[in-house]
Amino acid sequence: MSEVKTQLKEYAARLEHEMLGRVAGMQASTEMKLDALYDAMRHSLSAGGKRIRPVLIYEFCRICGGTPEQADAAACAMEMTHTSSLIFDDLPAMDDDDMRRGKPSCHKAFGEATAILAGDALIAAPFQLIAEDPQLTAEQKVALISVLAEREGANGMVGGQLMDMQFETQESVTAEELTTMCLGKTGALMEASCKMGCICGGGTPEQQEAAAAYGRSIGLAFQMIDDILDVTSTAELLGKPIGSDAQEDKKTFVTVLGIEEARKRAKELTEFAHAQLEGFADTEFLHALTDALLVRVQ
Ligand code: IPE
Ligand code: IPE
Ligand code: MG
Ligand code: MG
Ligand code: MG
Repeated sequence: MSEVKTQLKEYAARLEHEMLGRVAGMQASTEMKLDALYDAMRHSLSAGGKRIRPVLIYEFCRICGGTPEQADAAACAMEMTHTSSLIFDDLPAMDDDDMRRGKPSCHKAFGEATAILAGDALIAAPFQLIAEDPQLTAEQKVALISVLAEREGANGMVGGQLMDMQFETQESVTAEELTTMCLGKTGALMEASCKMGCICGGGTPEQQEAAAAYGRSIGLAFQMIDDILDVTSTAELLGKPIGSDAQEDKKTFVTVLGIEEARKRAKELTEFAHAQLEGFADTEFLHALTDALLVRVQ
């Protein structure tokens, strides 16, 4: 196995252990009988995700001089946030997809109401995890909460998701409009992850900004590849339906630019991303991860 894959696996295993431990702790701390809610949360959180966003948090924390312990809460918070966005994204009112991470999507397994509430719970939990983490200073907590809320919210991922839905009924969209939408729906949480990693590790404001620029560009490239895989891959490999974009009349980098041009732009964005890492030391893994994301098949 390549070194990148081994390191990814290690980070993913740590994240899963930490995140499911925190979920168990939350469930144990209430008298309410919430098995359906917690089962739905665990269903969507557990194995099958690539864990790219928490990996970025752990790695940016590390190259800024921090420990994995200092990144745990933010990494768990980000994966919960991302998972909530996937639960909502699959709902009949949005992309109407029945499979996610190789399993029935949350609303298919637990019904719409429970899925919506599981998503809600996974939006709230991250702020509690960060606020209560004993590893972080009060200043770090405020900075993390601010970045997460802003990049997750109306001017970030949520706004991008709205634009994505609105584009469905629009005759055509320009490459610029599509880019703005994707910087929100996908770029925002990638950007937040890289910046949050720096905050956990005590990175300078300059490092935080460079990490944010890196995150935005790999986020855009990531969505280009996601759009390409929706037409070229298999549901088995992806763990989610293929052809979903065409079925929903999505405007994607494939419909707007075509596969070849989308790949070319993803490559350019990847090159730009590499350049943003200049102000950091010990970036071998990040450079390799950046390239691996460009040629990913899952
Ligand atoms: C899927 O994200 C949604 C997009 C932003 C394209 P991922 O491809 O990271 O999904 P998981 O976490 O691996 O399931
Ligand atoms: C979803 O983009 C982005 C978010 C969930 C915020 P897509 O709709 O393309 O993601 P997939 O293809 O369903 O994973
Ligand atoms: Mg979508
Ligand atoms: Mg979708
Ligand atoms: Mg997609």
